[in-house]
Amino acid sequence: MRIILLGAPGAGKGTHCKRIVEKYKVQHLSSGDILRKERAANTELGKKAQSYMDSGKLVPDELIVEMMAEAIGKAPAAGFVLDGFPRTVNQAMELDKALSSKGRNIDAVINLQVNKDIILNRMTGRRSCPKCGAVYHITNLKPKVEGKCDIDGEALVQRADDKPEVVKERLETYKEMTKPVVGFYEKKGCVYEVDANKSAEEVISIIFNTLDSLIK
Ligand code: AP5
Ligand code: MG
Repeated sequence: MRIILLGAPGAGKGTHCKRIVEKYKVQHLSSGDILRKERAANTELGKKAQSYMDSGKLVPDELIVEMMAEAIGKAPAAGFVLDGFPRTVNQAMELDKALSSKGRNIDAVINLQVNKDIILNRMTGRRSCPKCGAVYHITNLKPKVEGKCDIDGEALVQRADDKPEVVKERLETYKEMTKPVVGFYEKKGCVYEVDANKSAEEVISIIFNTLDSLIK
């Protein structure tokens, strides 16, 4: 199965991808997580991406498309769930070309819709694991032990780009550059709208029902 999770920053893409991976055994390919790992390893790509990420802007398409093509090329036969990619219409077109050259397509685009006031609360309370990328929230989705990742025990961190001024810029960038990606996939008839203002459990159960209906 080949899935895309779309949605504004803080919509819950990373949170729900973890559950999708557990259930459908597909690979989670998060462009943001890959970029953060490149930065932590101080690679050339990581250095190039840094200033864009810290200011809430998009990393240039040519860097992202190459990075994600490599990740998709290594994905298992079970498929993948894309999180944070594609984020521009140009990236979506490049993905389309790469998949169709192999006779493949995207099975479902899940579009997570969330109101702005909810997004702001989610971003300020988010804590993430720098090792495995698991996502928590200080009140909504607490780890079992405060400040520690349930999966590997690593100390949880607050992302540098969750500062209010950067969040504002990321939301603007989303509206301008990423919303049109929904229209690109609507023309292909594979978009499923999900009200992601609901609790994480309610949202994931809607996503599971949608994906199950595609398998049957
Ligand atoms: P990226 O890491 O992709 O960030 P983003 O899209 O801004 O998304 P987030 O990770 O902030 O939100 P999310 O939807 O994953 O929400 P989460 O599940 O954590 O990108 C970072 C940067 O990298 C970009 O700004 C850009 O510079 C660059 N970049 C990445 N991809 C790129 C690309 N393709 N092209 C160019 N540049 C690129 O949830 C948020 C919080 O809410 C958590 O605390 C969670 O516990 C909580 N929560 C989630 N759902 C619920 C719920 N239903 N109820 C209650 N709480 C919930
Ligand atoms: Mg994320």
